[in-house]
Amino acid sequence: MDKSKRKVVIAGNWKMNMTPSEAKTAVAETAKLTDSMNGCDVVLCVPFVDIASAVEAAKGTNVKIGAQNVHFEAKGAFTGEISAAMLLETGVEYVIIGHSERRQYFGETDATVNARTKAALAAGLKVILCLGEVLSERESGITSEIVSMQTKLDLAGISAEDMKNVIVAYEPVWAIGTGLTATPDQADEVCGIIRSTIADLYSADIADATVIQYGGSMNDGNAAELLSKVNVDGGLIGGASLIPAKFAKIVEAAQA
Ligand code: PGA
Repeated sequence: MDKSKRKVVIAGNWKMNMTPSEAKTAVAETAKLTDSMNGCDVVLCVPFVDIASAVEAAKGTNVKIGAQNVHFEAKGAFTGEISAAMLLETGVEYVIIGHSERRQYFGETDATVNARTKAALAAGLKVILCLGEVLSERESGITSEIVSMQTKLDLAGISAEDMKNVIVAYEPVWAIGTGLTATPDQADEVCGIIRSTIADLYSADIADATVIQYGGSMNDGNAAELLSKVNVDGGLIGGASLIPAKFAKIVEAAQA
């Protein structure tokens, strides 16, 4: 397997943190600290209301801005929702879809995750598609079945051509925000299972070219080891992305 076919992508997921003015400062600071680090793509996924100030602060820098969700319909009576076209016009390049917190607290299913992914890709956004097992599934020894089923359901009907704009983030739910991290070998193994599922669905070439991130308590202390694994092409980082100095250390670890 040739890891050099893939670009490493380090993405921050701010979740429900930062006001627009705080976002402006944090994006500018992150951009300054990662300015000369061209060995990976750097993305910050911010709350909807922060997008305008984040995009402005990221102009002319290495940092790209993403959103944290998108609705699957183009427009209409969907109070509180945001469409892909709206995101695109604000300057967002990426969108996270299917985060476990959306699945757990907001009723997302593989069917809605799939519909959102299709809408985002059709509009020209790049998708960071999150999936992963919960603790009881890992303890029952069915991690492999769960992630491969999620991969199939979430990517159903998505063309080989559109896979160029899909990043998959393997996020074991038990590791998110808990301080527990999958070991590098566990992360590598499951990212490898996702990759071979993509090979079955599409082709070995597409699987080799797909960026698969690890997410779940990645930080400046464990990033280098996780990123050294052949199937781990980057990270989706929650808590540690809120502190520019910590996040920049992770970006630095991805330069090797
Ligand atoms: P965490 O979050 O780094 O705080 O565990 C990761 C994520 O939810 O994407």
